[in-house]
Amino acid sequence: MQILEGEGVTKYFGGLAAVSKVDFHVDQGEIAGLIGPNGAGKTTLFNLISAALVPKPGTIRFKGEKITGLKPHKICRLGLARTFQEVKIFSNMTVLENVLLGSLFGCSTGMSSADASREAEELLEFVGLSAVRTTPAKDLTLVNQKRIEVARALATKPELLMLDELMAGLNPAEVAQAMELVTRIRDKGITIFMIEHVMKAIMSVCDRIMVLHHGEKIAEGTPQEIAISKKVVEVYLGE
Ligand SMILES: Nc1ncnc2c1ncn2[C@@H]1O[C@H](COP(=O)(O)OP(=O)(O)OP(=O)(O)O)[C@@H](O)[C@H]1O
Ligand SMILES: [Mg+2]
Repeated sequence: MQILEGEGVTKYFGGLAAVSKVDFHVDQGEIAGLIGPNGAGKTTLFNLISAALVPKPGTIRFKGEKITGLKPHKICRLGLARTFQEVKIFSNMTVLENVLLGSLFGCSTGMSSADASREAEELLEFVGLSAVRTTPAKDLTLVNQKRIEVARALATKPELLMLDELMAGLNPAEVAQAMELVTRIRDKGITIFMIEHVMKAIMSVCDRIMVLHHGEKIAEGTPQEIAISKKVVEVYLGE
């Protein structure tokens, strides 16, 4: 079953087609990857899905329901959460408080603050941040700030989690941990749609990969199919 589908999704910035007539889908339960060179339109597509931007034209459906035109918080409460390429945390709040915001405001089910706190603590354990739960978010390293975003997104109880370059700027050991985290999230039954430049990671964790180039979808397939796609090799390495 397709949990997310887009049809003819397009976004112009002035004369630039950042995303152009893209048809895409994400299947329930999979880890889907989105790759493409810098400026290909990957983040713009995520912004269109999460309603930070509105496609024109184009339609996006989540769990069969049209979400184009809904406000971002409504989409979040339907069960679609995301993280950001440039981390967007509340710097002066503690790690725990950042995650609590997800539980208390992002989630459709009303929750008591005691339940929200318990859940936030469990999520911090899950992402490996329990030891720094009372530290101001700004004092954490980049890798840990990215984990705050993951925990905050998980606190909204998503069915689909979109990750925009979770692994950028991480060293190889941190990338390995991030890959393991992504797999554990999927094992909780949460579908993943991830943008990534770290090829080793994307090739080993994704079930299926879509490739954007100059705003257009140029390829789609299993990691094995993408690795040998002439079109994909050309856009990454030149002809
Ligand atoms: N708010 C905006 N206003 C104008 N142009 C924009 C805006 N956001 C993105 N763009 C342009 O749209 C194109 C696609 O950008 P986007 O950020 O989606 O690429 P990306 O694939 O995420 O790249 P990267 O891998 O570098 O993150 C780029 O040419 C970018 O300069
Ligand atoms: Mg981007």
